[in-house]
Amino acid sequence: MSKPYAQSSAQIHNPQPANVTVPFVDLKQQYASIKQDVDAALARVIENTSFILGPEVRAFEAAFAECVGARACIGVNSGTAALQLALMAAGIGAGDEVIVPSFTFFATAEAVSVLGATPVFVDIDPISYTITAEIVAPAITPRTRAIIPVHLYGQTVDLDPILEVAAKHNLCVIEDAAQAHGAEYKGKRVGALGSAGCFSFYPSKNLGAYGEAGAVVTNDEKLATQLRLLRDHGSTSKYAHAIVGYNFRMEEIQAAVLNVKLPHLNGWNDGRRANAARYNQSLAQTGLVLPREMDYAHHVYHVYAVQTDNRDDVQKRMTAAGVQTGVHYPIPIHLQPAYASLGYKRGDLPVTEALAERVLSLPMFPELNEEQIARVAEAVGRGN
Ligand SMILES: Cc1ncc(COP(=O)(O)O)c(C=O)c1O
Repeated sequence: MSKPYAQSSAQIHNPQPANVTVPFVDLKQQYASIKQDVDAALARVIENTSFILGPEVRAFEAAFAECVGARACIGVNSGTAALQLALMAAGIGAGDEVIVPSFTFFATAEAVSVLGATPVFVDIDPISYTITAEIVAPAITPRTRAIIPVHLYGQTVDLDPILEVAAKHNLCVIEDAAQAHGAEYKGKRVGALGSAGCFSFYPSKNLGAYGEAGAVVTNDEKLATQLRLLRDHGSTSKYAHAIVGYNFRMEEIQAAVLNVKLPHLNGWNDGRRANAARYNQSLAQTGLVLPREMDYAHHVYHVYAVQTDNRDDVQKRMTAAGVQTGVHYPIPIHLQPAYASLGYKRGDLPVTEALAERVLSLPMFPELNEEQIARVAEAVGRGN
């Protein structure tokens, strides 16, 4: 999971508390299954002493572009950088408005703001937890320049109607696919279905590096050229700078790990889907609202979140039973102190606000076993 997942981040940096029987994620188990290959890849990078934008990055960019069906992939140093770069390459800046869901990780909106543009927060559909064309259309103004659909939790947004609205108003669509590696919309992998798509390879994502990493994918060659320039100080050759950019370059060590992991992505996503199906079965009688895979989506369950009326009590009881859980996300972005100046108030986005109080994310990772799922079901059932 990503930084907002307090427990999973803590778990990465600190030893697990003694009584944990089902962790929220288990990266150690995954490492054990690929240790030989990862260790060899890391040793290769160190031997080569080529640490930034080298052969590993080039190989990963080619492989990931193919994986998601995009013409180009530009490796960067985080999902946040990917979003910022995609927006900048699309020419978004001061005075522009960008439509974003409020029910997402903070970085989706932050990337808009750091460019001097204004995020316009919209609500989500209560079933898919994602934005829809019907929700987006009324938020379009003469200043709107882009829409960022977020494939939240690994469920894909219903993109066709959004692309249609966007085309009508000449807006670009930048997918936030940070939680949706390998997810499909109507049989096509997400990422390059709009102008550009942004991925995070934060360690606990469905495809995770061993540190910070991200990528932008696109089918637009001109945009790809601009993205490559922007991620490396606008540099056309050593010490020649065509434009002002950033240092958002991907590290070889991260690309080497991603090259080892990428061939496992489909299998790991299948594991997540199988675990989601087991949860669906075990939790069917609990009265919890369970996640629903939309008929146009191939959900990859980065997060398996249920809804409950008494979330905090359920979470406490699960913690006491040794089951780690998370909340994605407890404070909608339009109500964050960072955006107080935009003047949103409670009640503006009712679906988002209700979900922020009701959702509870259960342990989800490919290696989760049946016994662990039974433990989670027992603990959650008891508490609900
Ligand atoms: C939906 C979403 N967007 C953007 C990001 C930012 O990615 P990163 O943490 O790699 O900067 C994340 C993950 O943290 C995310 O979940």
